[in-house]
Amino acid sequence: MCGIVGYLGNNKAYPILVKGLLRLEYRGYDSAGVALLNEEVNVYKCKGKVSDLEEYVKDFNTEGSVGIAHTRWATHGEPNYQNAHPHYSMDKKTALIHNGIIENYATLKTELIKRGYVFQSNTDTEVLIHLIEDIRKNENVELFEAVRIALTQVEGTYALVVISKEHSDSLIVARKGSPLIIGIGDNEYFIASDGTALVEYTKEVTYLNEEELACISLKDGIKIVSISNIERTPYIEKLEMSLTAIEKGGYEHFMLKEIHEQPKSISDSMRGRLSTKKDVVSLGGIIEYEDKMLNAKRFIILGCGTSWHAGLVGEHMFEDLIRIPVEVEYASEFRYRNPIINEDDIVIAISQSGETADTLAALNLAKEKGATVIGICNVVGSSIARATHAGSYTHAGPEIGVASTKAFTAQVTLLALMALALAKKKGTIPNSRYHEIITALENIPKQVEETLKYDNDIKEIAERFTNAQNFLYLGRGYNFPIALEGALKLKEISYIHAEGYPAAEMKHGPIALIDDEMPVVVIATNKGTYDKVVSNIQEVKARKGKIIAIVTKGDKIVRDMADYTIEIPETEEMFVPILATIPLQLLAYYIAVNRGCNVDQPRNLAKSVTVE
Ligand code: G6P
Repeated sequence: MCGIVGYLGNNKAYPILVKGLLRLEYRGYDSAGVALLNEEVNVYKCKGKVSDLEEYVKDFNTEGSVGIAHTRWATHGEPNYQNAHPHYSMDKKTALIHNGIIENYATLKTELIKRGYVFQSNTDTEVLIHLIEDIRKNENVELFEAVRIALTQVEGTYALVVISKEHSDSLIVARKGSPLIIGIGDNEYFIASDGTALVEYTKEVTYLNEEELACISLKDGIKIVSISNIERTPYIEKLEMSLTAIEKGGYEHFMLKEIHEQPKSISDSMRGRLSTKKDVVSLGGIIEYEDKMLNAKRFIILGCGTSWHAGLVGEHMFEDLIRIPVEVEYASEFRYRNPIINEDDIVIAISQSGETADTLAALNLAKEKGATVIGICNVVGSSIARATHAGSYTHAGPEIGVASTKAFTAQVTLLALMALALAKKKGTIPNSRYHEIITALENIPKQVEETLKYDNDIKEIAERFTNAQNFLYLGRGYNFPIALEGALKLKEISYIHAEGYPAAEMKHGPIALIDDEMPVVVIATNKGTYDKVVSNIQEVKARKGKIIAIVTKGDKIVRDMADYTIEIPETEEMFVPILATIPLQLLAYYIAVNRGCNVDQPRNLAKSVTVE
């Protein structure tokens, strides 16, 4: 949450910073601000989006080739001018932006107020700038050393950038628990929360490790030290990202583009890992840990939001194919309930961003207790990817829309590959069956493409239900997580209340909500508990609810009962979740567009939740 950008070089900083903010706006969009180093440090900030900032800054001086900028998702203090970043030091010579939370800010603030510091905002961040200034003056040290000492006194998480009039040729950056990437150009440097903000300028990047800070100057390059003052040489890496992947490419919204990218993103997640000709599924990233995984007594899958839903699908796949018990937990609950973890447990942490604070903390807890932790992340080099023992990337490409779509289907694909690779090795699946399943998986991208052709039909259904107040989503077995995911998509972007429920549980409560106004989306595909779900549809119809059914191509029974049907191609039961989720993404998308909602940046949400 919160996007940060910094620039140091010989070009005009302002346009680079604003463009960077626009790319990072998915991380938060309550307020935005910029600080430019000219003769003075000029801070311009306002409530609202980056476009509001641009409008506000129009009449000011935006010269300067050193600067920092921030787009905020409020944690402490309401989104307004005062609380927007950057924050100034009292003498206005130094400014700072921050992503994360300073947990002991109240204690530090009381101390600093006693020492005469006057606070302009209600943020936790502002303590940092005054603390740095206080240390600089009292201990008579340079700014970089003052930042280092200050960070030994703060508890919490941070990615921060500091600029100062007195060090006009340098930027100071630091990170712990929040992401930060340094791009290296031709005698210029770019700082950002992630690669999307700098990929158009450079692909040479370096990352800070946890609890490290760096002084970046045009004269001396990058100097990295740990908070405990141990220096290390920066390691330069190549950023694997293309500019076209982070642009809308003719679509009205990133979300629609990402929904339509799924045939490709699913193929990309399988590339080099599945071969029906050779009859193998192999994940290079976990190969060394396969034996350990096969000998596990239990798998624990951790995630939040949509990633947790992918985990629920994975539970079915792993138990069906490898016959090892699986528990799926919200990372946020797991970390606070003193879980019983053994050394022969395998924990799988799923995260699109690889930065979700709860997932990171939960996996670290599991690690401390001796478990082996495997990651399934989309963002290469992310904190979760680096904190795990091993793992596999989903390779879905950058996902910009706040509501996750292509990352979800790639996560489910990855879990399927993992389950299949392990099942083959364990011998829990006959060769002929294994071949059938991997052939079906290979076919999925084509079938997703077929499903996407129903786009216009779904648009029409969306029109009919644009003004609904509530929605119910039902599914069983493999399709229950898809009911949850369908409901989440609708809630996130259209603000319609929606609940996902196991179809058979409906009669224990939600059935009381059904009347002739209530749309009920039922995933009623032809495998598993199809007959039972058909009965559940009849129960809804008897109460005059409106049925929107996702059915297998050629289905007649449900078609006759439902008010609206959307067909998906026939596949193995375990891959139905991938296909069935596509129409639900489109349904949520078109309803939200009809309601005039901001689809890519829904209110109150952020793509990467780096706070608890
Ligand atoms: C936020 C996003 C969701 C995402 C969840 C977990 O709530 O808006 O789309 O599913 O975080 O994020 P992760 O990056 O860990 O998958």
